[in-house]
Amino acid sequence: MRLILPLILLVLSPSFSLSQYQYNINRPKPQLPPFKFPTQDKELVRVFEWKNIQYGFPSEQERQEVLRNGRYNPDSPIPIDIGVYYPQNGGPARYFITTPRFGQGVPYSLAYVTSIQGSNGTEVQAYPSYQWHSSHGRNCDGLTSVYRVHIDACGQMWILDSGEIEFVQHCAPQVVVIDLATDQLIHRYRLPSASFKAGVSRFVNILADIRDPPPQGQCKDVFAYLADPTSKAIVVYDVLGQQSWRVENKFTYPDAKFGTHTVAGESFELLDGPLALAVTPFGLGLRRHLIFHALSNELELAIPLDVLNNATNWQKGLGSSLSEFVTLGRRGVQCASHAISRQGYLFCGFLNPIGIFAWDIRTPYNGQNVKLLALNPETLQFVSGLKIVSRPSDGREELWLFSNRLQKIFAGTIDYTEINYRVLRCDVDDLLQGRGCF
Ligand SMILES: *[C@@H]1O[C@H](CO)[C@@H](O)[C@H](O)[C@H]1NC(C)=O
Ligand SMILES: *[C@@H]1O[C@H](CO)[C@@H](O)[C@H](O)[C@H]1NC(C)=O
Repeated sequence: MRLILPLILLVLSPSFSLSQYQYNINRPKPQLPPFKFPTQDKELVRVFEWKNIQYGFPSEQERQEVLRNGRYNPDSPIPIDIGVYYPQNGGPARYFITTPRFGQGVPYSLAYVTSIQGSNGTEVQAYPSYQWHSSHGRNCDGLTSVYRVHIDACGQMWILDSGEIEFVQHCAPQVVVIDLATDQLIHRYRLPSASFKAGVSRFVNILADIRDPPPQGQCKDVFAYLADPTSKAIVVYDVLGQQSWRVENKFTYPDAKFGTHTVAGESFELLDGPLALAVTPFGLGLRRHLIFHALSNELELAIPLDVLNNATNWQKGLGSSLSEFVTLGRRGVQCASHAISRQGYLFCGFLNPIGIFAWDIRTPYNGQNVKLLALNPETLQFVSGLKIVSRPSDGREELWLFSNRLQKIFAGTIDYTEINYRVLRCDVDDLLQGRGCF
């Protein structure tokens, strides 16, 4: 008892030193105050809109050929992610989208957005080239099915390829890194069989934590985190150490109570594990954590990076390092992708109310601190991709998101005469300070 009491006092003491400060472990209170949200809809700037993804091809003959042989069916692709690249030399921004091969009719799964307007929206073209995609699973040196991408501060695009087409594993899941300044392949890592579960895993999200960022660093010391919601795990990839390991336990699991996802009155069922990944920034005086959540769960969770990044801590299967996980709080609803700004605000698009929420990671995660910043029941239906991008011209941060009305795709109610897919942008500070988006 003598030993325990001083320990408790130390933990509760408000003067507990800042360098030791971790997170407010916010044990959920039985009754949380309701989320407050503004009455007005706040608009985010619409950058791209599509009724349907408008694919470009190397030639009209190629388009006709893939339409004929079923490798392109305009009703098949579902876009899910956005990547934005601002060249450091001030050149024009480049925009990328992903359309994983959930079905057969997806001509390519990673594309850049052109400036050509088509009848369904802005035309896209295959990236890095059409040939990278055109084998449809036969050539594992290409890209089989890209779910999401992460563009780092060195202009490297981290591409996560699940290796599947229509849920059949054609190639091992892989991480492919392309240098955006030269469009050249600079790194490839095929997941070893111990890091995924064949026939079960589906890799859908990647976050590369750059531990040697520019201007001093070269973006070589990297840990990449891969979300595998169907095998309910996070895979840690130590790039310098050239190894990867799985993290799977009760915190990476979905909660059946959050298996029904309802957006704007339509619902779909998914029992998905980890989807959202973000790391807390350097420079806040906090022990760094990965903040993550399962798509089909209300819990927001964190794990310290020093624990996560040490393979030795994960050798005991489901029981590994359990006491290191922090339950930050509960949302009472699902949100999909998330991202953290430099100043430590975590952004996520909630399914209900249909809006963008932000939470200051230094405060308890609860209904008072998780604040609604933008509400739009039409344009923010299912934010499947969400990124924070630093603008080189003035160093300010922008929030970018991709919304895709996933509930309509599941329900079969998608109407291609309406705008279904949107890329939206807002200045992070403007959004946080309620100035709207300009
Ligand atoms: C636009 O999308 C519709 C619906 O999928 C499709 O039938 C049509 O072929 C598309 N048009 C072009 C030019 O891609
Ligand atoms: C990794 O963790 C193990 C056991 O938890 C510890 O003994 C070892 O020192 C750690 N390695 C590093 C590099 O921190």
